[in-house]
Amino acid sequence: MILSPSRVNRGTMGSMTTLTLNDGTEIPQIGLGTWKLLGEEGVRVIREAISLGYRHFDTASAYGNEETVGRAVAEAVAAGDVTREELFITTKAWQNEQGKDGIPRAFRSSLDRLGLEYVDLYLVHWPAPDQGKYVESFEAVARLQGLGLAQSVGVANFYGDVLREVVDEVGVVPAVNQVELHPGFSQAPLRALHEELGVTTVAWSPLGRGILLANPVLDTVARAVGRSTAQVALRWAMQLGCVVIPKSTNPRRLAQNLAAADFTLSRDQMEAISGLDGQAGFGRIFEDPRTFGSN
Ligand code: A2P
Repeated sequence: MILSPSRVNRGTMGSMTTLTLNDGTEIPQIGLGTWKLLGEEGVRVIREAISLGYRHFDTASAYGNEETVGRAVAEAVAAGDVTREELFITTKAWQNEQGKDGIPRAFRSSLDRLGLEYVDLYLVHWPAPDQGKYVESFEAVARLQGLGLAQSVGVANFYGDVLREVVDEVGVVPAVNQVELHPGFSQAPLRALHEELGVTTVAWSPLGRGILLANPVLDTVARAVGRSTAQVALRWAMQLGCVVIPKSTNPRRLAQNLAAADFTLSRDQMEAISGLDGQAGFGRIFEDPRTFGSN
């Protein structure tokens, strides 16, 4: 039997700060990005994260680790560390899963691999404009929410034009748009559009893959607040109103990243960090979704 998320009593999410999505769902503001977390090590890291207080885990069919995430969740639930309802699990449909028939099939396969009866958030992973299927794909994702199989639905890596197009064509505003966002690439125009539409920004690679962390501006702020540069980068994105999903395999850094919830940056500190946007050597690190295709 499918347990409809509308009947899930979410209970508490521990001490985790949450944001409210446009469909009324609470999302923990810090999650764990699970890209490259595989096998035994992946299970160990995710269980460690759960015991540290993480409640939000982000995976995707393309990461090849939905079984790993599902196993860690099942083991943690069986051990009494957490209940399913306390967790927020996101997964995503890859380019070769797009289309009105592809999406329901892909979703069912993801649920099977995760060993879950529902997911909290289901996303179209990239618009892949060369395929021209992103509108029908988001429409199919939105239908899954209507059927009660996904608590919330959204998109990832959608730039302004395609985001507006799906809102206009489908008539459903995605709950989130998950995009590359870090102090070197603050996505200010896209965040302004999100605010206008009521879309929550989820920042992937909020540490800029760790590359940014030696930056002198971040270092000055970090010294002033007595925190690490990683915590400052996460806190900056959180104060911009974003959800952050940093990756780490290291227990000390997992705990450190969670503690980005415990302090505040001043307006001047926020502005100094926002001023890093696009500076020499910064900017987008990963693929541009306008040209990132189906392969
Ligand atoms: P590690 O797994 O050894 O902790 P992003 O999420 O922006 O893609 O960044 C992930 C990278 O940042 C990983 O290489 C990870 O390495 C590193 N990282 C994660 N948390 C921290 C932290 N608190 N301090 C320094 N590096 C970190």
